[in-house]
Amino acid sequence: MALLPIIHAPDARLKIKCSDVESVDQHLRDFMDDMLETMYAAPGVGLSAPQVGVTRRVIVCDVSREDEDPRPLKLINPEVIEASEELIVAEEGCLSFPEHFAEVKRPNHVLLRYLDEFGEQKQIDANGLLSTCLQHEIDHLEGILFVDYLSPLKRNIILRKMKKLKKQKVAA
Ligand code: NI
Repeated sequence: MALLPIIHAPDARLKIKCSDVESVDQHLRDFMDDMLETMYAAPGVGLSAPQVGVTRRVIVCDVSREDEDPRPLKLINPEVIEASEELIVAEEGCLSFPEHFAEVKRPNHVLLRYLDEFGEQKQIDANGLLSTCLQHEIDHLEGILFVDYLSPLKRNIILRKMKKLKKQKVAA
């Protein structure tokens, strides 16, 4: 297992549409374990492959609370097949935007189809926090970031701060 470096915005690699995984093998399973380890260490509740520089349709998440048993999920080629009309607003963050949070409105309920780590076709019914998290991560696979849902003004404020942070890091 290994911690993977997380790409911070703004970065062109976060805006790429990812391609489907064609074969589910041990290499991919090891990669998803590394993604989970990276996510837990950050700490975060979700991570997508493009955030660690791999433009494949793979996401991991775990929305369990600290006092609960972990519930890691690993999804390959996830697809939203149903979304509720009912929307919820949740405060979202992103490991590619450390310390930035903003409210985003999304469907409260989604039904997803995906492949599990053994290549089996599965479905998941998600509500609330899990639904928000999975939709956020699936967006990453399309090159869509949570700031893309904000007003241009709010988005630019966050992106400007992120750029400044990067310059400071390079200078340091
Ligand atoms: Ni994110």
